[in-house]
Amino acid sequence: MGVTVHPLSDALGAEIGGVDLGEPLDDGTIQEIHDAWMEHLVLLIRDQTIDDPQLVAFSGRFGELDGAPIGATPDGKVSAREYNEITVISNVVENGRPIGGLGNAESDWHTDMSSYEKPPAASMLYSLEIPPTGGDTSFCNMYRAYEVLPEDIKARVQDLKAVHDATLTSAGGLRHGFEPVTDVTKTPGAHHPILRTHPVTGRTALFLGRRTNAYIPGLSVKESEELLDTLWACATAPENIWTHTWKVGDLVMWDNRCAMHRRDEFDHSSRRIMHRTQLKGNHPYYAAAEAAPTAA
Ligand code: SIN
Repeated sequence: MGVTVHPLSDALGAEIGGVDLGEPLDDGTIQEIHDAWMEHLVLLIRDQTIDDPQLVAFSGRFGELDGAPIGATPDGKVSAREYNEITVISNVVENGRPIGGLGNAESDWHTDMSSYEKPPAASMLYSLEIPPTGGDTSFCNMYRAYEVLPEDIKARVQDLKAVHDATLTSAGGLRHGFEPVTDVTKTPGAHHPILRTHPVTGRTALFLGRRTNAYIPGLSVKESEELLDTLWACATAPENIWTHTWKVGDLVMWDNRCAMHRRDEFDHSSRRIMHRTQLKGNHPYYAAAEAAPTAA
């Protein structure tokens, strides 16, 4: 049986069937998955039984893997792990030490590591243990967020950048080594264009990263806050969102260049263990004219 693609919502997301990620996949199959990914932004592949080397091998078929560990535990240290490409997302504590990042708290809408000059292009998250309730992950479509903007706002933001805060984790905790932001005009983090050209599809997306401590240089704080609120309202409108309720063995892969995500909190006494990989990304840019799509 070949690859099947079943859309999961009007906004974004598709379920891929007919693949076993534990087996070597031929180039044609990878291309079909890639094409579906570029069209639907987020893919769900259920009922997989894979180990870390298989997750790393599958992820690496779509681009260069980021080797930098990002699963810093709350004390700023990273647990020793066998595979540098795997980040553990978990609330589980073993021997008094968290085995991964993010705990059980809600994580607000964000693009992974957008405070970096070259944020990761994409992330793959594989579920090993999940709580009976809670911990759902939602995604929003940033192409569509751009497309529904009023024309005057599209024109207004096409030359603007926003600062992507580096001080907070997506769960709202202060990152090790940073001071709390008291003046958003001094927020540390990368300055990225608000409109972003996707380097593969050539489509334009809104690129917002995260709301807290964001600022648009060149505007007053009041103007910046008002414009950001308008953009965020478009991005996170209910009709622009798909939410995934996890089962063990799910692999979800999302494209950070055109989708944001958030996670619901869950009971701290439940266990949730996810292993994540991510692909290296480009320096975000906006090409006002139609950008020519390039190879994957
Ligand atoms: C993340 O924000 O990368 C993690 C999402 C999740 O835990 O579901």
